[in-house]
Amino acid sequence: MSDVSSDKAAGKGSGERFSSLGFIMSAIGSAIGLGNLWKFPYITGLYGGAAFVLIFIVCLLIVGMPVLLAEMAIGRAGRGNASSSFRNLASSGRWGFFGFIGVFGSFMITSFYSVIAGWTLHYALNSFTGKLYNGTDYNVQFETFTSGYSPLGWQFLILGLSAWVIARGVSGGIEKFNKVLIPALAVVLLILMGRAMTLPGAGEGIDFFLMPDFSKLTGESVLVALGQAFFSMSVGMGVMITYGSYVQKEQSLGRATVAVTGGNLLYAIIAGLIVFPTTFSFGLEPAQGPGLVFVVLPAAFSAMPLGAAFGGLFFVLLAIAAFTSILSLLEVPVAFAMDRWKWSRVKATAWTAAVCFIVGVPSALSVGGVLSGITIFEKNIFDSLDFVTSNVLLPVGGLVVTLFIGYKSKRAMEEAGLNGPLLKIWVFLLRVIIPPMIVLIFLYSIGVI
Ligand code: PFF
Repeated sequence: MSDVSSDKAAGKGSGERFSSLGFIMSAIGSAIGLGNLWKFPYITGLYGGAAFVLIFIVCLLIVGMPVLLAEMAIGRAGRGNASSSFRNLASSGRWGFFGFIGVFGSFMITSFYSVIAGWTLHYALNSFTGKLYNGTDYNVQFETFTSGYSPLGWQFLILGLSAWVIARGVSGGIEKFNKVLIPALAVVLLILMGRAMTLPGAGEGIDFFLMPDFSKLTGESVLVALGQAFFSMSVGMGVMITYGSYVQKEQSLGRATVAVTGGNLLYAIIAGLIVFPTTFSFGLEPAQGPGLVFVVLPAAFSAMPLGAAFGGLFFVLLAIAAFTSILSLLEVPVAFAMDRWKWSRVKATAWTAAVCFIVGVPSALSVGGVLSGITIFEKNIFDSLDFVTSNVLLPVGGLVVTLFIGYKSKRAMEEAGLNGPLLKIWVFLLRVIIPPMIVLIFLYSIGVI
């Protein structure tokens, strides 16, 4: 199937470019998100601690990194959006359609991811002012908040801020903000880690998080690690293709891949070193997702000296992590609209963010709100969207990227800049190892195996 001559000369794309550091920071900003802070720690605790971290690292090495590099290479070689980059490289429009899955998927993820990002702002504010700690039942507080209409306002604010940044462009907006926010995130993480690890009884939490327990390693933990490697590296949704299209010719994509993977892993592990010592130190039970950060942790902060400030900082941390991920997700449909309809960046951003907000309203109102009664396969609207995008669109998008470089576009393969044994290993992984692994994650997550 490999056909060099069918690779069309790549277009120049929008002409917008990242600086070298700006690209690394923006890609790290995309990767680090709610996935690191509320999912990774919990599944690690559940599936075998350090033993699971080891499996996760293996998944990053053999699946996450190769696919990340593949996406960046497709973007830079194709110099188009998540759909047209494929079309520019292959002569058939079919590949452009496959690429469109990413455009659609990232738009849909933004619509509900921004709901949670909005919640974190509300919680940050209420923690700093102390209002969060007036009552004691955090479950009731959470349900009262999410069943009302105010989450819509917060979601609107987050999308509005994202649109404002994106409308300023790649170097004047996206990279400028990531270059400030990612180091800020590191500072806040380190402060919170210092606090968490010095709490009395913190050791128990560290044990829960990292104590290697190989008996908990099952086929299931491997599949969970694989799925997490995908989501957390932001691959499969065209994000890294879109960002890759703004990378300068001279930049090493291999080095960028290593930096993004390392940064992402480091932040995930530090997140665990905050969450579990804090939870266990106050005799609380860990949970996953919303339950962990909006119910369990506030109870811990309320019992901690200066808890309102630390709690506030924690929610700011979540907000920043989610925000920089949203910038990357929203840029995918924005870049598509700019290319497809020849819209200006400002117009494309305004429309995309506005439509995304409207599409996100049902998600925001379905977590305990007026629309919570509507269920699809026993899941509310929010959970259904999360399920379909993470478990169906993401693997399909990843498979498209893998097969495209593995079997279709020599031009994109060369763009990665690998040679010698590294190139051989990479191509072998993309052709032989990764496709069946993706199919396995897919079958597992839709409940077939
Ligand atoms: N990587 C982000 C996280 O871990 O929260 C989420 C994400 C961003 C997923 C971009 C997919 C994506 F394309």
